[in-house]
Amino acid sequence: MPHGTEVLLPEGAPLTDIEYETPQHLIPFGCRSGACGACVIEVIDGFRSLGEADLDETDFLEDLGRTDGTYRLACQCRLLGSATVRVVE
Ligand code: FES
Repeated sequence: MPHGTEVLLPEGAPLTDIEYETPQHLIPFGCRSGACGACVIEVIDGFRSLGEADLDETDFLEDLGRTDGTYRLACQCRLLGSATVRVVE
């Protein structure tokens, strides 16, 4: 997270739940359905802890030019363990 912010969420929680844990808008969510691209994150550590990306998410990330396999749409992630992410500008 930006500035080393650490947020704890229950296992299986969508990453969108982060907004309920802090008043800061750490991730800029928009549509919350994988269609706008506002919530692109770079996964620094724990990629597998965010669940599997489906084909729609992978295709959309490719459309956005995020093709190196370290990016996810935060709104499509389910937290399964620890992960470190960075918001993409
Ligand atoms: S909030 Fe729109 S793609 Fe994630």
